[in-house]
Amino acid sequence: SLSVTDYLRQHIRTVPDWPAPGVQFRDITPLLQDPKVFRVMIDAFVHRYMDRAMRPDVVAGLDARGFILGAVVAYELNVGFVPIRKKGKLPFTTVEETYELEYGSATVELHADAVKPGDRVLLIDDLIATGGTMMAGKKLLEKLGTTVMEGAAIVDLPELGGSARLRASGLPLYTLVDFS
Ligand code: PRP
Ligand code: HPA
Repeated sequence: SLSVTDYLRQHIRTVPDWPAPGVQFRDITPLLQDPKVFRVMIDAFVHRYMDRAMRPDVVAGLDARGFILGAVVAYELNVGFVPIRKKGKLPFTTVEETYELEYGSATVELHADAVKPGDRVLLIDDLIATGGTMMAGKKLLEKLGTTVMEGAAIVDLPELGGSARLRASGLPLYTLVDFS
């Protein structure tokens, strides 16, 4: 009778000093590798967003690990999936947003016709650290006139302040496991 949170937490691998000294990298690949764990994780999201009041019109996933989750959740909700990609990968007309990283900056893109004004969008990624990636995704979706109804992720690293910043910007968040 483990909670979903504790069950998932036990299956996330922590890799010390990767990709840099002092970083404790929270690796979600073991959740995907075990079919029982994968299903528990996906079903936690599907259960929440199947609810009539919570069902999105479309799911947007953040490059690259957000694609793995987002596509499966969208399929189960019977809604479409749209990828928000790192710059230079999408072939058609895009909108783009640049954000600051610890060293340098990153740019993400979304096809201009991927969503319609007024759509209610669920934005999914695997993990929230500084929140920069999810904030950039929210801005792209808002440039196209949609409402991001919620941001969802497996893992939140609250000590990095990203989830608090995202919530302060008006984005509701749903995450399954916190790591301090
Ligand atoms: C990681 C992670 C999130 C983001 C979180 O992706 O999957 O997308 O960083 O960090 P933030 O909250 O500080 O923005 P990464 O850029 O490593 O890309 P990947 O999914 O392609 O590995
Ligand atoms: N794990 C996975 N992705 C990440 C992390 C982490 O600890 N920090 C920033 N992106």
